[in-house]
Amino acid sequence: MNLSPCSIFTPVITLMLLLEVRAMAAAAASSHPYCGPLPGSDVDKVQFAMNLEFLEAEYFLYGSMGKGLDKFAPYLTNGGPPPVGGQKADLDELGFHIIQEFAYEEIDHLRAINETVGGIPRPLLNISKENFANIFDQAVGYKLDPPFDAYANTINYYLASYLLPYVGLVGYVGAEPYLVNFTTKGLVASLLGVESGQDAVIRALLYERGHLKVPPYDLTVAEFTDKLSQLRNRLAMCGVKDEGVVVPTELGAAGKTETNVLSAGKNSLSYRRNPQEILRIVYGTGDEHVPGGFYPHGGNGRIASSFL
Ligand SMILES: *[C@@H]1O[C@H](CO)[C@@H](O)[C@H](O)[C@H]1NC(C)=O
Ligand SMILES: *[C@@H]1O[C@H](CO)[C@@H](O)[C@H](O)[C@H]1NC(C)=O
Ligand SMILES: *[C@@H]1O[C@H](CO)[C@@H](O)[C@H](O)[C@H]1NC(C)=O
Repeated sequence: MNLSPCSIFTPVITLMLLLEVRAMAAAAASSHPYCGPLPGSDVDKVQFAMNLEFLEAEYFLYGSMGKGLDKFAPYLTNGGPPPVGGQKADLDELGFHIIQEFAYEEIDHLRAINETVGGIPRPLLNISKENFANIFDQAVGYKLDPPFDAYANTINYYLASYLLPYVGLVGYVGAEPYLVNFTTKGLVASLLGVESGQDAVIRALLYERGHLKVPPYDLTVAEFTDKLSQLRNRLAMCGVKDEGVVVPTELGAAGKTETNVLSAGKNSLSYRRNPQEILRIVYGTGDEHVPGGFYPHGGNGRIASSFL
């Protein structure tokens, strides 16, 4: 048989190419967004959650009373800078009472964490209406005209609030199974209870108005919740873990209902998110290494800092 050099080498080259393609595929797979649990100490995990509690505290304090932690509990800021863009919202009486209560609950949560595991400095927070407007534009896929104003009225404020406690909730559900210490487990369970309560109240208030248009836009309240949830799923890049207040039946409880007052997965169990997913969402960048959105300089504490 008369083999030309070419026919000898072709299979070798093919094999090498195949191996290279496999290596590239493996590299691509490993650069896929990480969706599993994060190793680390209980203290780091609980302090990570403080980033979200600070955000909620400031948004609810400003929204209900026009001032933030620097007025109501400066000793809990641990020297962090004041937020930018907070303002009093034009809430109806029911909305004012609910949001004011949430605001005080967040101060209590910050105190509970700070007293149990020690506190981190408050990160720089951007709670300006412009930041919320950007998020809403990203969610709907075009520039809303006029820009969405999170402080303009009760329904807008509830829609913007839809963005906050749910992220804390899924973060606590994600952290709880991997905590080892009884004290921190107990704390996180108790924080989770109230966080999910806040989320449920906001969702129920939105569900009640689900079919109404959000003036002056041509979108209903339910459509906005769906788009905001889809945005979070896109940014976190770990599948569907977030659902609006009305869903296709197969996503509803037991696959039997389109109403979706609570967002939950299979067997109506709460979804879980790891810190990376949470950072991808709250930074608005889809990348835990690239701060932005609510956290122009990123979050504080060992976990958030480790990605910066
Ligand atoms: C559990 O965590 C708490 C709070 O950080 C700490 O005071 C306590 O010593 C820890 N217990 C154990 C057994 O590590
Ligand atoms: C909060 O935690 C910090 C850091 O551990 C500590 O210095 C401060 O005294 C704590 N403040 C409160 C009110 O517990
Ligand atoms: C807050 O967000 C708005 C909208 O993205 C932006 O214009 C502004 O510069 C941000 N402020 C800070 C301090 O990052």
